Amino acid sequence: MISVLLLAAGEPWESPAMADLEAHPGVVVLKRCVDVDDLLAAVATGQSDVAVVSLDAPGLDPASVALLRRHAVRPVAVTSARSDDLDVREHAQRLGISAVVGSGELASLPGVVTTVDDVADTRDGDHRPSVDVPLADVAAGERDRGRVVVVWGPAGAPGRTTVATNLAWEVARREAAVVLADLDPYGGTVAQHLGILDEVSGLLSASRLAAAGQLDERFASVCRGVGPHLAVVTGLPRADRWREVRPAQVDQLLQSARGQGHVVVDTGFALEDEASSDFARPARNALTLAALEQADEVAAVGSADPVGLTRLARGLVDLRERTPGVPVRVVVNRMRATIGWSEKEIAGMVEGFSRVAGLHFLPEDRALLDRAAVSGRPVADLGDSALTQGLSALADAVFPALAGADDGRPRRPRLLPLRGGTRARPRRRGGPS
Ligand SMILES: Nc1ncnc2c1ncn2[C@@H]1O[C@H](COP(=O)(O)OP(=O)(O)OP(=O)(O)O)[C@@H](O)[C@H]1O
Ligand SMILES: [Mg+2]
Repeated sequence: MISVLLLAAGEPWESPAMADLEAHPGVVVLKRCVDVDDLLAAVATGQSDVAVVSLDAPGLDPASVALLRRHAVRPVAVTSARSDDLDVREHAQRLGISAVVGSGELASLPGVVTTVDDVADTRDGDHRPSVDVPLADVAAGERDRGRVVVVWGPAGAPGRTTVATNLAWEVARREAAVVLADLDPYGGTVAQHLGILDEVSGLLSASRLAAAGQLDERFASVCRGVGPHLAVVTGLPRADRWREVRPAQVDQLLQSARGQGHVVVDTGFALEDEASSDFARPARNALTLAALEQADEVAAVGSADPVGLTRLARGLVDLRERTPGVPVRVVVNRMRATIGWSEKEIAGMVEGFSRVAGLHFLPEDRALLDRAAVSGRPVADLGDSALTQGLSALADAVFPALAGADDGRPRRPRLLPLRGGTRARPRRRGGPS
């Protein structure tokens, strides 16, 4: 039985196509989708085989089509023009769809749906994985290219950006290529943490390139280099611009990034899936959720105080549901004697909330982080401290293959060196850049 998702985007062929598909033995239409976001949400459930889409559906872009494929869903486009029209063929090819049915050929749609195997899809000589590649194998291959570590934390500014930025810097200090992507849908601050004065948002540029199907080849243009190993994709310049980034584009961004090296992602705090309650779109938290879907590991940052730990406890339960099977490492930040709890007591609480892959404590160090903020530098650049040591130990645990590689001895990069990029600012002599 072939399960079909239908996205007709209000085209007049919807009803006849629906009737033809339902009448065809061996075909079942699982859902009529209202828009591309609805289609991609349906695809993620893993129950469909083919997506019949209007070639002109608003928001249908190469990133969305790539996401269909990653879920082993074969796309078939329907156009109201003739399928052999040159513009139509070019448009389909740009999207990465090879099976196109003209509205005058609707009678052939069920036959196309049952036979499309999509293996011949190539663009610019770029061979995409065929649909028979099991998802698990694709994921294993991707893991060889670089790990995606998503830094999440509940509301209340527990230190997500501080941890993400410094974790990425620790990887760079170990001379391994790393991409730090700012995907916080409530406004990006990674650039400010690293003293990057950039008017162009890497995230917005990346989403535009992903929509045009050009992100892979132009990935370097969306990054700002900080030293030779760290590439930063800066975040949203204003919180209200989250609408310009779609989950499929986040997906594409992280796929491209992991082709360059390890990836550290800064996200937002909220985990609710607003789209599931009504078909509102686009969903703001979808950026965070899309990042979590790609995570090889999650670092959950909580603040070491009663409110922070309560929020962390609830968040860990939600995370578990969102990312089943993905290791979650807890980082209890801003540890201080005045709170009156020992590490052992906090460990007891955290382990009571959820089974975690590891537990780390980072001390409160207001003076050091003030200096880091004012100078736009990672803390490791500002000399040794308990906080730096804690961040270094965290990096060793999250990236064990790189452990002990920051001893200052020259060594070759372990992953592909980054292409292009510019330095944010000159670094001090003797620093890792
Ligand atoms: N260990 C620490 N000691 C002292 N201050 C800290 C520590 N960690 C973070 N901070 C401070 O807490 C504030 C919030 O940190 P950060 O921006 O990293 O949090 P966030 O979770 O990313 O917040 P937001 O919700 O704004 O994105 C900053 O002023 C930062 O310097
Ligand atoms: Mg932040």
